Amino acid sequence: MNNKPHLKSADVGVFGGSGFYTFVSEQAADLETVSLDTAWGQPSAPVTIATFRPANGSPIKVAFLPRHGVRHQFPPHRVNYRANVDAMRQLGVRALVAPFAAGSLRSEIGPGEFVVVDQLVDRTRGRADTFYDHFDEGPQHLPFADPYDPRLREVLLDAARASGVTVHDGGTVVVTNGPRFSTRAESAAYRAAGWHVINMTQYPEAALAGEAGIPFAGIALVTDYDAGLDDDPGVQPVTQETVFQVFEENLHRVRALLAAAIPNLP
Ligand code: ADE
Repeated sequence: MNNKPHLKSADVGVFGGSGFYTFVSEQAADLETVSLDTAWGQPSAPVTIATFRPANGSPIKVAFLPRHGVRHQFPPHRVNYRANVDAMRQLGVRALVAPFAAGSLRSEIGPGEFVVVDQLVDRTRGRADTFYDHFDEGPQHLPFADPYDPRLREVLLDAARASGVTVHDGGTVVVTNGPRFSTRAESAAYRAAGWHVINMTQYPEAALAGEAGIPFAGIALVTDYDAGLDDDPGVQPVTQETVFQVFEENLHRVRALLAAAIPNLP
């Protein structure tokens, strides 16, 4: 008798963010949980693989991994991003979608709205952000001018519009180290630089996906106005309670958007 476990695989990977710890959907059935080990250590949680059955079309396997762990025990600077991305690579996913909570740096981008970002600025420090700590097999400099896959972005934009949410096409996310939020001066500087949203996890996730050769897209769910708005002193600086509350209130929109996007991912 052959007791060897068969190799698990999936078509699409989804990273869950703050307040998004399980992948449940009316169309996602046959859940199986896979504990993966990687050369970089343990991913944040076992990966759940759901067979997603679109109304018309063939079944799609979706691998879901909550980047902060199922109890949100990993703060943004301690997430094992390499293990998480490598777990997706081991499963063979051909697209990786990363919803994330974000603060808005602009009055025209409000809480509850989505931004399909197209650029990223890394303001993290000291994170393990490459699979190539040694160039044993030759130099490995990732082209990173465009961190987000344009085809995945288009699918997410169409899905967002189809699911009736307010979505912004393009924007720059500045990724801070956290876990603290920004000062008013930092936030004003990011706004003055022309950046749109702020988050703590898109880097190095995007770069590692690039190194792993997996097309990657990030979609921001705006939960707050970061340290506040210059032209509206009534807007309070962000608290973690606000982030979790607004994310939870909008989680059904994130799920609807993913359900609309998954069947159309290239
Ligand atoms: N995630 C959600 N809101 C945020 C903010 N204001 N700054 C950094 N990360 C966030």
